[in-house]
Amino acid sequence: MLGWFSKLEDHKMMVSLCLAIFGLTTVQASSHNTAWLPRDKTFATRSIHVGEDPDYYRFGPVVLPIYMTTTFKQDAPGKPRTYKYSRDDNPTRDALEQLIASLDEGKYGLAYSSGTAAITAVAELVHDGGHVICANQVFGGTYRFFQQIASKFHNVNVTFITESYDNDQAEEVRKAILPNTKMVWFDGLSNPLMIVCDIPGISKVIKSVNPNITFVIDNTFVSPYFSRPLQLGADIVVHSLTKYINGHSDVTAGGVVTNSRALYEKLKLYQDIAGSVPSPMDCSQIIRGAKTLEVRMQQHMKNGLKVAKFLESHPNVELVVYPGVESHPQHKLAKSMWAGSSGMMSFYLNSSITNEQSADSFLTSLKVFALGQSLGGVESLAELPFKMLDDWMTQKHRYTMGVSENLIRLSVGIENHVSLLKDLKTALDALTD
Ligand SMILES: *Cc1c(COP(=O)(O)O)cnc(C)c1O
Ligand SMILES: *[C@@H]1O[C@H](CO)[C@@H](O)[C@H](O)[C@H]1NC(C)=O
Ligand SMILES: *[C@@H]1O[C@H](CO)[C@@H](O)[C@H](O)[C@H]1NC(C)=O
Ligand SMILES: *[C@@H]1O[C@H](CO)[C@@H](O)[C@H](O)[C@H]1NC(C)=O
Repeated sequence: MLGWFSKLEDHKMMVSLCLAIFGLTTVQASSHNTAWLPRDKTFATRSIHVGEDPDYYRFGPVVLPIYMTTTFKQDAPGKPRTYKYSRDDNPTRDALEQLIASLDEGKYGLAYSSGTAAITAVAELVHDGGHVICANQVFGGTYRFFQQIASKFHNVNVTFITESYDNDQAEEVRKAILPNTKMVWFDGLSNPLMIVCDIPGISKVIKSVNPNITFVIDNTFVSPYFSRPLQLGADIVVHSLTKYINGHSDVTAGGVVTNSRALYEKLKLYQDIAGSVPSPMDCSQIIRGAKTLEVRMQQHMKNGLKVAKFLESHPNVELVVYPGVESHPQHKLAKSMWAGSSGMMSFYLNSSITNEQSADSFLTSLKVFALGQSLGGVESLAELPFKMLDDWMTQKHRYTMGVSENLIRLSVGIENHVSLLKDLKTALDALTD
């Protein structure tokens, strides 16, 4: 592990040197020297087996039974066996919590009834008089929670720091840290502009200024198959399990993983008291979905690369932002932290051929890509962030962020790539027919 870390440090120095000497646009020249981090050889086995032990159950079921029970018989008053009441603990949820901890190589896992419930639980670790530093392009629910709940009801001050492809995130965090700063929150990959978070850089700053600050990464867009924020210096990883981990767009749930016993105990208590837990049925569905996470993520990346390269070659596309390809300004940073890139990307339609209707007509003429919110399922989705991001974001905020009427976001699924490329080509060609 230590070796891995120091390799990361060397690599980061090299990256910043290249950036300083050649500027952003010519970094590509040397990028073939870097590879993605090696893939985790035990991941698939862990995804399929952790949390499930046939010998633990009387009949030896290979697939974990779904414990559809709210309560458990006690041997004497106040003497429950292992489980007492399903909001506190349920065997199916337990299995899911062990599984997500293992996927992120963390010690403790917690499951929630939505990604947003997981976010709220973690964000509420900060209260009276605390200060939070939050990236300004985090998931809308996170932004809204800090802006509308934490600030107004919990006496928490929040500094939103501006993210871009080329600012020094670690330095921005250093400047924003106050004596009462308790938490720093970034998404591993931002929505919809696909800005990559420099986790080791920010972690280093936090550890040097005040190691008591909790560093949180929402890694929903990247997935634990491609990146392990806890190993890179984060204290807590948050996931919307609704997305890649379940992967079949049929369950809403959230997860938290940490190595800190103290944080886990606080979160566990809060989970029980606040009560936003997933049902045993939902847990079972996610356990099933996660079994194929490795093969799905590999396919999301293969298709992602093909789609990105195709879009880059089409004259009706101006710019593609996909961390998996060299044209992304933070491609090397991504490679230094991840084992690959997911199916998440955005692109701008070529503004010299578009009008107000172009994005709408492009999106509605797609046949394989469904026009819809969400991401991370086996099926491909496309959306228009300008009109589909949550209401909290004002038009001005959208423009300052670079979210224009021409920006399309894709969640590239695992269908046959030929049908995906054909679908995109037909819809793009139609813009200039
Ligand atoms: C979807 C999403 C969430 C919220 O998850 P829900 O399960 O919809 O509540 C949180 N973070 C990110 C990055 C997401 O994409
Ligand atoms: C929040 O910041 C404002 C302005 O800097 C300050 O007056 C106030 O005391 C701060 N509150 C907390 C809870 O830190
Ligand atoms: C961190 O927390 C410990 C224990 O609460 C405390 O003793 C220490 O002063 C804190 N450090 C900083 C830099 O706030
Ligand atoms: C955008 O379209 C214009 C007009 O057709 C064309 O000249 C230009 O090369 C296109 N831009 C890209 C990036 O393909």
